[in-house]
Amino acid sequence: MSKRHENKVAFITGGGSGIGRETARRLADEGAKLIVTDVNLPAAEETVSLIEQAGGEGVAVQMDVRDREQIVAAAAAGVRRFGAIHLLINNAGVVTGHSLADLTEEAWDFVLDINLKGQFLVAQEVSKRIAAAGGGAIVNLSTVEALVVVTSGSTAQPHYNASKGGVPMLTKALAVELADQGIRVNCVAPGPIATDFFDLEGVTSQEAMDYMGQRLLVRRIGQPSDIASAVSWLLSDEASWVDGIQLPVDGGWLTR
Ligand SMILES: NC(=O)c1ccc[n+]([C@@H]2O[C@H](COP(=O)([O-])OP(=O)(O)OC[C@H]3O[C@@H](n4cnc5c(N)ncnc54)[C@H](O)[C@@H]3O)[C@@H](O)[C@H]2O)c1
Repeated sequence: MSKRHENKVAFITGGGSGIGRETARRLADEGAKLIVTDVNLPAAEETVSLIEQAGGEGVAVQMDVRDREQIVAAAAAGVRRFGAIHLLINNAGVVTGHSLADLTEEAWDFVLDINLKGQFLVAQEVSKRIAAAGGGAIVNLSTVEALVVVTSGSTAQPHYNASKGGVPMLTKALAVELADQGIRVNCVAPGPIATDFFDLEGVTSQEAMDYMGQRLLVRRIGQPSDIASAVSWLLSDEASWVDGIQLPVDGGWLTR
């Protein structure tokens, strides 16, 4: 495995599960030291334990992306431990199964606060640390659902679509604002990925597989490692001329 993130420190949100955990492990395998944050501390600790078992270094910090004080404290704890922060992955995200008719304001606020406001708050605080370290890169997690509506059974999720639709524009705005500080900002738009986020039983039903079979050109469900590879590349110097984009990693979902 190439050590392209040697001497880099990465701060990840929602690092206790799925795409976040796999991305943290990948970056650690490639030489980065990891500040693994999650609202679920035992899950973040488990990720750090997996990193350490593979010979890497990490620290687990409990942090809710909706809470500025916790974000400031997590960044400070990371800098105390590893000296600096160069890379940020804004990964934490949630969804609830609501269509327009039964979508409550509470569910709207819950999803928007974590998926969109959370990325803003974390970027605002952690980019100060990246700038202080002389620059670096940020990757935000979007989804194909930022661009097209995907129904789960008969239920679309307007609040999820709205929250993720904001991510590519937030990404562009941050790329413009942070360019002078040597910070590139991009986002990745995954297609369906096998994680806890998904109701795996529903997703593997024949009806769901038939639907996905019509959409996916690469005929398999995505794996967290598919997304970790793209995030790692965008964070690396190999992508040093890539800024402000949304990269779909979706098995061809958006192609037709
Ligand atoms: N799995 C998919 O098919 C898929 C597709 C497209 C985009 N995404 C996006 O990828 C990202 C990761 O998804 P995943 O599939 O790994 O999900 P997951 O449910 O496996 O993991 C999400 C993690 O975020 C954490 N989290 C939840 N609320 C939080 C909060 N308030 N503060 C901090 N952490 C919090 C959870 O504890 C969990 O560890 C999300 O932003 C999601 O929208 C996922």
